[in-house]
Amino acid sequence: MTGGTDEAAFGVYIHWPFCLSKCPYCDFNSHVRRALIDETRFARAFAAEIATTAARVGGRTVSTIFFGGGTPSLMQPATIASVLDALARHWTIARDVEVTLEANPTSVEAARFRGYRSAGVNRVSLGVQALDDRALAELGRLHSAQEALEAVAVARGIFDRYSFDLIYARPQQMPRDWAAELERAIAEAGEHLSLYQLTVEDETPFAALHAAGKLKIPDEDLSRALYDTTQDVCAAHGLPAYEISNHARPGAECRHNLVYWRAQEYAGIGPGAHGRLDIAGERCATANEKNPEAWLARVERYGHGLVADDMLTRDERADEFLLMGLRLAEGIDPSRFAALAGRSLDAARIAALREHGLVETTADGRLRVSLPGFPVLDAVVADLAA
Ligand SMILES: C[S@@+](CC[C@H](N)C(=O)[O-])C[C@H]1O[C@@H](n2cnc3c(N)ncnc32)[C@H](O)[C@@H]1O
Ligand code: SF4
Repeated sequence: MTGGTDEAAFGVYIHWPFCLSKCPYCDFNSHVRRALIDETRFARAFAAEIATTAARVGGRTVSTIFFGGGTPSLMQPATIASVLDALARHWTIARDVEVTLEANPTSVEAARFRGYRSAGVNRVSLGVQALDDRALAELGRLHSAQEALEAVAVARGIFDRYSFDLIYARPQQMPRDWAAELERAIAEAGEHLSLYQLTVEDETPFAALHAAGKLKIPDEDLSRALYDTTQDVCAAHGLPAYEISNHARPGAECRHNLVYWRAQEYAGIGPGAHGRLDIAGERCATANEKNPEAWLARVERYGHGLVADDMLTRDERADEFLLMGLRLAEGIDPSRFAALAGRSLDAARIAALREHGLVETTADGRLRVSLPGFPVLDAVVADLAA
């Protein structure tokens, strides 16, 4: 892992809520618009929301910035530059700040990569999804495997740090085919890969197809075999999982995502963005209006797009710490849980989970979920939090 847990980390998430088309499996806050997007108006609103947030949590040093979506690679580099300028006007930016941008792997978007680097982006994360054209078509993607690999090559030539996403446990996918696809992916990967099991999200076209029996996804045993294949192949190539779906060479973890999983502080800017802000010793959970135009209207009126801004109770904060931290291979520090919750984790429950091989305690006293425990992570967390 990236040495230490950097208690003072402060991340900023910026959400760009538009895509060229809606993928049938996706339930992210992403929208398709026929009219041209007024990026100048959005840039002004991002700057206004950054100013309002900084007035609440001043004096921070920003350690990570993440442009997520939607498809942030549809933004003009000048829009990215103006957001980064606004951040620098209101907070100190760490000298080693990590600035990630999520990109769709089409040639049009890859053509903007140099502009993003000039604007200050130093890491890209590409949504490759599959290296198989038939699977890409089934996933409703607008790019071929070849085009995605070309975008990866452009990223490699421009950025020191890049990652890409693949979705596995797709219809009819067998462990042997997945292992071969993953080997090909690793040959193209740099330091980091995100590997997500296909989830059928409610109210998506995939959910309707699944309900109608027209989308057959792997059953529990096959999913487990595909998960095991993922761990084996990645570990054999020096890319162990540092989080349930994320793999990196040691030291190359995505520092921004670690901010979430280590329950550190971050600001959420843009439509639907969430934040966790520490104000007067309490932790506030913030959430923004999701609809892009409604968010714009709110920011233009009030200076922010907040629709929720709630102080977390001790228990809520401790549960969140557990839920996020146990996703990580490094696990959690039980004494931090005790400080947050005002009580220790139940030793008998830990002992029972340990006996079943689902959790383990490290030499330095951290509690973590074991490899066999990860496929049943939700149940392990629920048991510990009860
Ligand atoms: C916000 S999206 C990414 C960026 C970009 N818009 C793209 O699609 O290339 C983040 C990632 O979540 C993953 N994802 C989205 N929906 C998923 C689902 N239903 N099951 C598994 N993974 C999913 C995809 O791998 C995707 O790249
Ligand atoms: S997967 Fe990415 S490109 Fe597809 S709809 Fe979701 S955010 Fe947009």
